Amino acid sequence: MGLSSLCLAFASMFILSKLVLSRLVMADSLQSYTPPCHDDEIFALLQFKQSFVIHMSASRCEAAAHLKISSWKSNSNCCSWDGVECDEETRQVIGLDLSSSCLYGSINSNSTLFRLFHLESLNLAHNNFNFSQIPPTVRNFPKLRYLNLSYSNFSGQVPSEVSQLTKLSSLDLSYNEDMFSNEELLRSLAQNLTDLETLDLSSINISSTTLNTFANLSHLTSLVLAECGMFGKLPFSLGNLRHLIYLDLSMNEFNGQIPSSFANLTQLTYFSLGGNYINGIIPCSLGNLTQLTILRLYQNQLSGPIPSCLGNLGKLTVLDLDFNKFQGEIPESLLNVVRLKGLLLAYNTLSGTVEFLKLLKPLPNLKWVDLSGNNLDVITETRTMNASSIPRLEMLGLGSCNIRKFPNFLRYQDTLEFLNLSRNGIHGQVPKWMWNISRESLALLDISHNLLSGLDQPPVVLPWVDLAGLDLSFNRLSGPLSVPSSQYMKFYHISNNKITGEISPLICNARSLNSLDVSNNNLSGMLPRCLGNLSSLEVLSVGNNYFHGTLPHLCPTNGSDLMLIDVSRNQLQGKLPRSLANCLRLESLVLSSNKFDDVFPVWLGTLSELKVLAMRNSGFYGAIPRHQSNHDDGFPNLRILDLSQNNFTGQFAFEFILSGKSMRGIHLDGSKYMRAFELVAVESGPGGGYYEGFYFYEYSITLMNKGLQRYFQKIREDFMAIDLSSNRFEGKIPEFIGNLKGLRSLNVSSNILSGRIPPSLGNLTNLEALDLSHNNFLGEIPPSLLQLSFLQIFSVSYNNLKGQIPVGNQFSTFEVTSYEGNPGLCGVPLPKKCSRPEGVELPHSTAEEDGVELDWKFVAAGLVSGLVVGVVLADFVTTRFSVRFIEIVALLIRLMKRMRRPRS
Ligand SMILES: *[C@@H]1O[C@H](CO)[C@@H](O)[C@H](O)[C@H]1NC(C)=O
Ligand SMILES: *[C@@H]1O[C@H](CO)[C@@H](O)[C@H](O)[C@H]1NC(C)=O
Ligand SMILES: *[C@@H]1O[C@H](CO)[C@@H](O)[C@H](O)[C@H]1NC(C)=O
Ligand SMILES: *[C@@H]1O[C@H](CO)[C@@H](O)[C@H](O)[C@H]1NC(C)=O
Ligand SMILES: *[C@@H]1O[C@H](CO)[C@@H](O)[C@H](O)[C@H]1NC(C)=O
Ligand SMILES: *[C@@H]1O[C@H](CO)[C@@H](O)[C@H](O)[C@H]1NC(C)=O
Ligand SMILES: *[C@@H]1O[C@H](CO)[C@@H](O)[C@H](O)[C@H]1NC(C)=O
Ligand SMILES: *[C@@H]1O[C@H](CO)[C@@H](O)[C@H](O)[C@H]1NC(C)=O
Repeated sequence: MGLSSLCLAFASMFILSKLVLSRLVMADSLQSYTPPCHDDEIFALLQFKQSFVIHMSASRCEAAAHLKISSWKSNSNCCSWDGVECDEETRQVIGLDLSSSCLYGSINSNSTLFRLFHLESLNLAHNNFNFSQIPPTVRNFPKLRYLNLSYSNFSGQVPSEVSQLTKLSSLDLSYNEDMFSNEELLRSLAQNLTDLETLDLSSINISSTTLNTFANLSHLTSLVLAECGMFGKLPFSLGNLRHLIYLDLSMNEFNGQIPSSFANLTQLTYFSLGGNYINGIIPCSLGNLTQLTILRLYQNQLSGPIPSCLGNLGKLTVLDLDFNKFQGEIPESLLNVVRLKGLLLAYNTLSGTVEFLKLLKPLPNLKWVDLSGNNLDVITETRTMNASSIPRLEMLGLGSCNIRKFPNFLRYQDTLEFLNLSRNGIHGQVPKWMWNISRESLALLDISHNLLSGLDQPPVVLPWVDLAGLDLSFNRLSGPLSVPSSQYMKFYHISNNKITGEISPLICNARSLNSLDVSNNNLSGMLPRCLGNLSSLEVLSVGNNYFHGTLPHLCPTNGSDLMLIDVSRNQLQGKLPRSLANCLRLESLVLSSNKFDDVFPVWLGTLSELKVLAMRNSGFYGAIPRHQSNHDDGFPNLRILDLSQNNFTGQFAFEFILSGKSMRGIHLDGSKYMRAFELVAVESGPGGGYYEGFYFYEYSITLMNKGLQRYFQKIREDFMAIDLSSNRFEGKIPEFIGNLKGLRSLNVSSNILSGRIPPSLGNLTNLEALDLSHNNFLGEIPPSLLQLSFLQIFSVSYNNLKGQIPVGNQFSTFEVTSYEGNPGLCGVPLPKKCSRPEGVELPHSTAEEDGVELDWKFVAAGLVSGLVVGVVLADFVTTRFSVRFIEIVALLIRLMKRMRRPRS
């Protein structure tokens, strides 16, 4: 008995102690107790933390309040810190994930980071390491399997030590700078790191490398080489890469055809060749890639029909063939691909008739459809079908689809984010049910370039609360202007209609408006004063209306974003607001054809970005004062100056106003065009990625010389023109003019300029038009002008020139009208022969010219700056299922100017 009770007692004690123990353990785990980490690693981590500041400049730094690193405190267990992972047994730090932690600062070999010798995984993506080089001490991580430095502002050559990290299975260096200027290094990397499964080098220039470099990496499942500057044909005979699941070669310069060897990559689920120069047809062998879920071949030169074998790709969710040259009909086999969410066929030359509801019916998962910009006849009504049963779409592009009637099925669409019905010849009114569709979701609406005559019962305030862009331009809309309710509105374009009434100050509720274009309407009243408070406004275009009153105080502070102001062809009065001097980003100011009453705004001379200043016929007068400063440094970036048809007097301060480097043709990129450029939207898209939509305003210009009008739809950055015509400028043109090497057009006609024509004009070898007519120039036409080999338009008529007209070159193309009204001139093409050899002055004689009285009026020269809208969409290739939705942009487009992302 004793023994058994003892045993019992023992047992109960055991139970008790076990209970206590488990209580203890429970209490510990309640405090999330874990055995401590090593002191040296705590120290290393804290030192590492201290070597950075938290700064919003880091990529994707939004929520600085919830940073992982803020949980890092001394005297605590580093294994429990956010972003830190320890080995369960050794308690050594084996993982560090500080991605998107707003870290800003430099990193070098001395960093205590490199004392975490046991790291297996390191993610520092989306920070700002201030263009540091990856330190060679990265070799201290021999066990590293995962290294991610994407988007973290590293710069400079990758150290060769990286190729000693032979355990690496994932390496992401994307979106840093100049990592592989030494291509040998990339080769040794690709030879040594044979365990790599994931490699992302996007945006890193590896143009001297071919795909074969990666042939040894036989374990690769994901290879992302977007925007790497790679070129040449796609061989892809490797066999070695047959485990690839994810292959992104977009935005390179690959050419040639799609090799059928791609069909060997049978595991592929994601395949993008978008944004290259691939031509030929889609080989049917791609139909063998039965695991494919996303296929992107957008923006290439592919042609032929869309092969019906693509209908075999039963798992396909996104088919993106936008911006190619595909012909023929949309194959019916695509209707078998029932998982399809995105069908993007825009901007090809597809033809045939598409019954839209029938197309959608078998594809219940469709969310993104774009058929814009083909030769399709899209029928939007089918009597036998119930339009309410078709899928709810998020993006619908039906631009240029020969639609004549406003599609009725739209009234059931309550999830639309993007709707493009532009360029269709839709007539009649926008039905009033439109004001009820997709109220919560609609972000972009483009119904521009149709024949719409009005809006049925338009609301004073537009109903879409998230609307970011609205384009109703180029219709026949009349009635008043509706204002946006969305405070996210980025652009509002309603130009080229017959809109009447005033612009309500409610427009300024759109606090983030980038671009307002109401030009070419019948609007009147004053421009709302509050426009000056829209600090994000970049483009303000209100030309050709009936606005009166003074210009609002734009750019009240230096923080304004305005790049382009066009108020031409109105009835604006008074003085220019001095606040314009705060528009530090201003590139183009077009004031022409108004009734201002002011002197030349010499105070704009400090605007370092100003490229275009046009104030033709707009009521300016008086002498142009030189700037107070001693230096001739006004208007440093000016390239286009139009002062014509005003009442300017005195000497024109050539040296001051035209002293900028630009006018001298220095540092200008002739391959670029002048434009205002702005990000429109970053939104999520199919497959969990996101896209960015950009648009730009491209400046255009009309030059008039000698009555000839020349319209430039876009203006090259190196284009330069000066028009001072029809004023009362006096004095001489200084020899200085010969410095303005970039000049293509110079018009000083109808002034009272005198003196000789400066021979240095012959130095302006880019000159295409030169008009010196109707002045008091004396002396000869300098023979140096024979050097102007691009000169097409030339006039010196109605001056007091004498002597022989230069012979040869372009001068053999000019007619009598170029010279008339100069009694002393002789030689071809004038009837008056020179009696002396070339170069010898003739005695002045007017007799022969008497009676020559042509009824010829010189049409004063002028520059009109106009606007063209275009859109560019950027491919955001970092995210796995990133979406390049160039078609979304198509919704915003009036003119698709450029389809590739700017590469620099
Ligand atoms: C970034 O680098 C620049 C130039 O090397 C340096 O002047 C600056 O102090 C660095 N900023 C930080 C936060 O380290
Ligand atoms: C690392 O530290 C040593 C000693 O403090 C110093 O001499 C050296 O310049 C540092 N190296 C770098 C790259 O900062
Ligand atoms: C390749 O890795 C080995 C060790 O695994 C190393 O010795 C060698 O230096 C590496 N090659 C290069 C080019 O770094
Ligand atoms: C690198 O990190 C970023 C940010 O966390 C992530 O989006 C990306 O997918 C990572 N890359 C790889 C290859 O894991
Ligand atoms: C595809 O793979 C097979 C078998 O691995 C190989 O024989 C064939 O040459 C490959 N085709 C191409 C075009 O690479
Ligand atoms: C594609 O599949 C077909 C049969 O489905 C086969 O005949 C053909 O060889 C395959 N092509 C390639 C390149 O594997
Ligand atoms: C120039 O000024 C005169 C009066 O001084 C005026 O009649 C004329 O309309 C003005 N011309 C222009 C183009 O403004
Ligand atoms: C510019 O023109 C003047 C006068 O014709 C001449 O003397 C000078 O050499 C020219 N300069 C250049 C750079 O062509």
